[in-house]
Amino acid sequence: MSDLIEPAADVLSTAKRAVALTGAGISVESGIPPFRGKGGLWEKVDPMKVAHIDAFLDDPETVWNLLIKDMKTLLDTARPNPGHAGLVDLERLGILKTVITQNVDGLHQMAGSSDVIEFHGNFAWQSCLDCNQRIKTSQVDLAQMPPRCSCGGILRPDCIFFGEMIPQDALVRSQRVSAACDAMLVIGTSATVQPAATMPYIAKDNGAVIIEINPEPTPLTSRISDLPLLGGAGSIMPRLIQAIRRRRASP
Ligand code: OAD
Repeated sequence: MSDLIEPAADVLSTAKRAVALTGAGISVESGIPPFRGKGGLWEKVDPMKVAHIDAFLDDPETVWNLLIKDMKTLLDTARPNPGHAGLVDLERLGILKTVITQNVDGLHQMAGSSDVIEFHGNFAWQSCLDCNQRIKTSQVDLAQMPPRCSCGGILRPDCIFFGEMIPQDALVRSQRVSAACDAMLVIGTSATVQPAATMPYIAKDNGAVIIEINPEPTPLTSRISDLPLLGGAGSIMPRLIQAIRRRRASP
């Protein structure tokens, strides 16, 4: 809600080690559809059939054709939006330390965020299932399905499929920065996928103020969000930054 922008700016103006947890919603205004809700990817395809590691290993060609190929086409050209840029501004203002993202699109790094924990891996690279050689996704030739490494092995993206473990270092660092933050911005996530959805609870339990940015309420909104800002990240973030800058400018 717009009237909560000012209280959120008050909190962030004095925060020194804020953390952001982001999800698919922050990239919607970059043209990447979310997973859940209206127009979400999981409305069109069943995640257990196309995004589970067993489905990929059983039939990599189908998973490449139904999921990975379209993702590559979208992510090859996607660019950061004002939501991503706002987090870079917060870092430069000395407020935000770390972005924990469930996204695999690399847009936080492209925008300029310097400490990004990729909780679900990233789509920028592929690994060969046989020899482990890694190649850039942008260099993958889609003429052959499924795409293969020079050794003949099948390529898979370096992101987490359902049924796979979260990378240990990403999990441990996320828990640590969540426990230590003084404010957590929860942006564009339905907060329904574990263990990422636990991070705001860790932050709240350790005294952080929870600021949520999302056009829709989530399970966090009524439970632990102190300041739910209802709206798209691309419009809320610039207003929030402006309100913080006004506070910094006034003596
Ligand atoms: P979801 O698709 O579950 O949720 C997207 C959220 O973004 C929803 O709460 C929307 O209301 C919100 N949203 C939509 N437009 C927005 C906008 N312009 N600005 C801000 N928010 C907006 O995405 P995640 O929570 O990221 O995992 O999903 C978590 C995980 O589930 C993903 O990482 C992926 C998926 O299955 C794996 O693939 C392992």
